[in-house]
Amino acid sequence: DKGNHRHFMAKEIHEQPEVVGRTIAHYVDLAAGRIKMPAELDVDFRKVNRLVISACGTAYYAGLVARYWFERLARLPVEIDVASEFRYRETPLFETDLALFISQSGETADTLASLRYARASGAKVLSVVNVPTSTIARESTAVLPTLAGPEIGVASTKAFTCQLAVLLALAIAAGRARGTLSERDEEGLVSALVSVPGLMAEALKSEPEIEGLARELSKARDVLYLGRGMAYPLALEGALKLKEISYIHAEGYAAGELKHGPIALIDETVPVIVLAPNDAVFEKTVSNMQEVAARGGRIILVGEENAAREAAVDTMATIAMPAMNPIIAPMVYAVPAQLIAYHTALFMGKDVDQPRNLAKSVTVE
Ligand code: F6R
Repeated sequence: DKGNHRHFMAKEIHEQPEVVGRTIAHYVDLAAGRIKMPAELDVDFRKVNRLVISACGTAYYAGLVARYWFERLARLPVEIDVASEFRYRETPLFETDLALFISQSGETADTLASLRYARASGAKVLSVVNVPTSTIARESTAVLPTLAGPEIGVASTKAFTCQLAVLLALAIAAGRARGTLSERDEEGLVSALVSVPGLMAEALKSEPEIEGLARELSKARDVLYLGRGMAYPLALEGALKLKEISYIHAEGYAAGELKHGPIALIDETVPVIVLAPNDAVFEKTVSNMQEVAARGGRIILVGEENAAREAAVDTMATIAMPAMNPIIAPMVYAVPAQLIAYHTALFMGKDVDQPRNLAKSVTVE
């Protein structure tokens, strides 16, 4: 049931404040201002030397975001790879490693094969899944559910942001266990986490502006997405969403990599979408934006209003995001990234819920 939405994808984008809120509530003891993990998560993070993450597609990008959280909040080294590579790499795993798999469907063939590889190596296997009865859930030592509800649109949206919510909660729990976060740090992070649904609702208000960009974007042959830090995997995710449903070629790049090649592509025909939360690397992203502007690139800046004004770069458009603690920005900035893809594809008359050549669940490699 699409409710009063035209597509499942629109419904699923719009229900994110609710389902991300539900997911967060599952992992937070609100009264205590603390994270609570399911009892079956029998992991002593003090004894974990390395977190090894594997997944496919959008779920992999959630893992890439989570790497920043685990490293920063828990000082836990993270190794991550796409499951189709991981399963064949013959990568050494040790008893002191914790393996983590992320999957909406819980049936993705490559992710499942990677999980079985990790199990066979004797690693503890943790999974973040949306379908609790799935094979990946069944074969895991412990399951951290996302409570996104059924995701029908082939392009993943709400499952992604729910995965991020679970992963941030887990990174906070790991940081507490490893002593890298104090009780006060935890309280601060928990209050940032519980602010996410409200901020996502704010971010959804940018929809009319984004709709207004669809015509311009639909004319593009290539679109570049740039971000630094946690906005880098988000740039990858934004580009994937656009490719999948509009069939426009899009690429996500770490903003700092621009001058190592992709800047050669920039001219007035290439829209450049810059995801720039107000974080520690914001100024760096701004200088990359100036490099793009100097070469005639047409910038769509997604960022906080004040920050965007201070950046003083010529942009084609600015999508205003509310002010927030940058640690939670990936969940909020996912919303405009999804809406950009949705409205561009819709304007082009594409089947946004069932893009060509794609299946919701990839059960063959
Ligand atoms: C992108 C998308 C895919 C999936 C990938 C993994 O919008 O939906 O990239 O994220 O196929 O699927 P799951 O999460 O079911 O393992």
